[in-house]
Amino acid sequence: MIKLQVKIILWIFIIWARRLCGAQIESINSNELLAFEDFLRAQHLQHALLLGNCSGQIENYKRLFANYRLQFFTPQRGVQFRELFYYAAPRTALLVPALGDEQTKRWIYEPASAEGFFNNSQAWLLLGNSQANRSDDQIIRQHLSPYNINIDADITVAMRARGAANQSWLLYDVYRVSKQTPLMVQLKGHWSRADGYQLLASFGESWIRRRRNLHNITLIGSTALIEKPADMDDLSYLGNDRELLQLDPMQRKTYQLFLLMGRMYNMSLQVLFRDTWGQLLPNGSWSGVIGHIVSGEADFSVCPIRFVTERSRYIQYTPPLHTQLIHFLFRHPRRNSIRNIFFEPLSTEVWWCVLVLMAGSALLLVLHMRQERRLPQPARPAMERPVSFVWFTILETYLQQGPAADQFRLPSTRLLISASCIFSFMLMQFYGAFIVGSLLSDTPRSIVNLQALYESDLEIGMEDIAYNFELFTNTTNQLVRDIYSQRICRTHPPNILTIEEGAQRIKRGGFAFHTAIDRLYRLLNELLDERLFCELQEIMFNPPYLSASILAKSSPWREHLNHAVLYLSETGLIAYNDRLWTMPRPDCTLFKDAQVEVDLKHFAPALFTLLLAMLVSASVFLLELLCGYLKARGKQQASQKVDKAMFLHP
Ligand SMILES: *[C@@H]1O[C@H](CO)[C@@H](O)[C@H](O)[C@H]1NC(C)=O
Ligand SMILES: *[C@@H]1O[C@H](CO)[C@@H](O)[C@H](O)[C@H]1NC(C)=O
Ligand SMILES: *[C@@H]1O[C@H](CO)[C@@H](O)[C@H](O)[C@H]1NC(C)=O
Ligand SMILES: *[C@@H]1O[C@H](CO)[C@@H](O)[C@H](O)[C@H]1NC(C)=O
Ligand SMILES: *[C@@H]1O[C@H](CO)[C@@H](O)[C@H](O)[C@H]1NC(C)=O
Ligand SMILES: *[C@@H]1O[C@H](CO)[C@@H](O)[C@H](O)[C@H]1NC(C)=O
Ligand SMILES: *[C@@H]1O[C@H](CO)[C@@H](O)[C@H](O)[C@H]1NC(C)=O
Ligand SMILES: *[C@@H]1O[C@H](CO)[C@@H](O)[C@H](O)[C@H]1NC(C)=O
Repeated sequence: MIKLQVKIILWIFIIWARRLCGAQIESINSNELLAFEDFLRAQHLQHALLLGNCSGQIENYKRLFANYRLQFFTPQRGVQFRELFYYAAPRTALLVPALGDEQTKRWIYEPASAEGFFNNSQAWLLLGNSQANRSDDQIIRQHLSPYNINIDADITVAMRARGAANQSWLLYDVYRVSKQTPLMVQLKGHWSRADGYQLLASFGESWIRRRRNLHNITLIGSTALIEKPADMDDLSYLGNDRELLQLDPMQRKTYQLFLLMGRMYNMSLQVLFRDTWGQLLPNGSWSGVIGHIVSGEADFSVCPIRFVTERSRYIQYTPPLHTQLIHFLFRHPRRNSIRNIFFEPLSTEVWWCVLVLMAGSALLLVLHMRQERRLPQPARPAMERPVSFVWFTILETYLQQGPAADQFRLPSTRLLISASCIFSFMLMQFYGAFIVGSLLSDTPRSIVNLQALYESDLEIGMEDIAYNFELFTNTTNQLVRDIYSQRICRTHPPNILTIEEGAQRIKRGGFAFHTAIDRLYRLLNELLDERLFCELQEIMFNPPYLSASILAKSSPWREHLNHAVLYLSETGLIAYNDRLWTMPRPDCTLFKDAQVEVDLKHFAPALFTLLLAMLVSASVFLLELLCGYLKARGKQQASQKVDKAMFLHP
């Protein structure tokens, strides 16, 4: 229904336009409309704009109306391209029936050129007439050279043959590599009423392939160099892919890809340098590399720029060139529980049970002892002091020393001692095996997620770089915000460090640092030995940052750059380049098996207990000495008194 209405309106429009059209411009004839229809079909387009004298046989338009969405403009007023091709308008075909007409030039070419509409969003079909005294090439150059036609232009010029009406028209492809080079005019195929739209074989494939020879033009790239040794000039640092790898390698890495692209497209690169990536200034302009792109000083960026939504209003991105992994990295503590390694094998409840069992068997033994002493045979002198006897017997039993076989006579006591021995045997076997086993095996790492990191007693810090602040403060994740406010900013000053300082802190241990992981590994590789390096643990909570080269909005190089990036990625060259630039890491799976040692931190409690016991025994020894001395003195005094008394009262 709506379609019908649209058609009726267009019919009325045609009738009105027919009256409007003046005498100067020839109307579009049926041959031209047929050629245009074939053009639309070959380009797979649905939308068309006819820029010419549209009066003529209504029947000629019928077929076009049936299949395409058309609009008409007579070139008597300037064509308002911006209004016609609103944001994200579909690709549209434009028919210009009079190639070299003054009206056409004034009302169509000039506005299109000024506003940049000779680009890939429009497919132009221009119709011209061949002349006897000049070649088609010359005619086309004469008419189209002054205009802003770029490498992404889709312009087909059909030159109508002179003479016979059914002679085929020659089709030409027109574009320009860059502003300095002349217009390129290439024969594309031919059209005739009988044969239709015939293209040469090479025009069946993508236009990028046909226009990949850029004739050694120089394109301008822009890059940010943030770290650079003072004694090196910018370009030799950028091209240096062997040394100074500990400095930020990102720009140098992608620069290698652009060198490949240069060879791919037969172009050379001139690189401009900036020292920042780009920030939106209060007056609406951009600084840094993005500034170069937005102002048109550079064609594209040679360094990768992170995808940020706000930036996409000003620039456009190519497919990803570089993936930046940004994680927490820290040396995982060897054992993370606070419990002592010697208590590790059994849980606290089990230890209590063992203690209760020992106390129980000691009590039982006390009862047995009373019975033993009642036996007719003389009791052993040791049994005269039951408490210490029981204490040492139980110790002997549980520490697998075994009390002397002839100490006990009663079968019940022997049963008790035997049962205790067997119990202690099992306990000791398990305990010893567990300790040895736990030293051999790698303890599973427990700080592997953000929650565990937050709860651990590690100190937490981050690199002093813009995206870190954005990541930690501009988020809805409460845990991430807590990490920032309660852990990173807990100390004064907060743990916001440079990457070198962070690496030093990681080396000292007990510190988790959030930064670009590859650079940090490269720094740590020089700081840590292999054993410490294998203790490193990553925690990832945000997806990796993708970054890509950027271009100005509606840049003619968009398709070329996209094609090159996708091509390099598809052929594995991007992955290969990434591998060249990432640091090889030691193989820690082999390393783990070799580490069987108890460090001092874990052994210290045993030493400490021994020391304490020695101190206690020494002080008890002193006490005993004192007691002995006092006793001896007391005795002496008593005997002296007795002597005196005896002396006084003989
Ligand atoms: C368009 O062509 C018709 C017939 O060919 C002619 O009468 C009319 O004046 C032309 N209009 C313009 C604006 O040139
Ligand atoms: C070529 O011929 C056309 C007419 O066919 C004429 O208008 C034009 O001036 C000629 N050009 C030259 C360079 O002789
Ligand atoms: C088209 O050209 C052929 C010769 O190639 C001729 O026989 C025929 O009559 C022509 N047709 C028209 C309509 O001019
Ligand atoms: C690159 O362009 C130059 C200048 O047009 C040309 O001489 C050269 O042959 C081209 N190289 C290739 C490989 O096409
Ligand atoms: C390509 O251009 C560069 C610099 O513009 C120049 O050094 C080189 O010789 C040129 N190569 C060719 C084949 O023209
Ligand atoms: C915006 O401000 C910067 C300095 O703050 C200046 O360099 C630049 O020229 C200004 N741009 C415009 C368009 O005013
Ligand atoms: C993050 O920042 C952007 C702009 O800077 C803002 O629009 C958005 O609301 C912020 N999001 C949160 C969760 O704070
Ligand atoms: C073509 O140019 C117009 C106007 O400059 C722009 O809006 C459009 O995005 C461009 N199309 C492409 C494919 O670059």
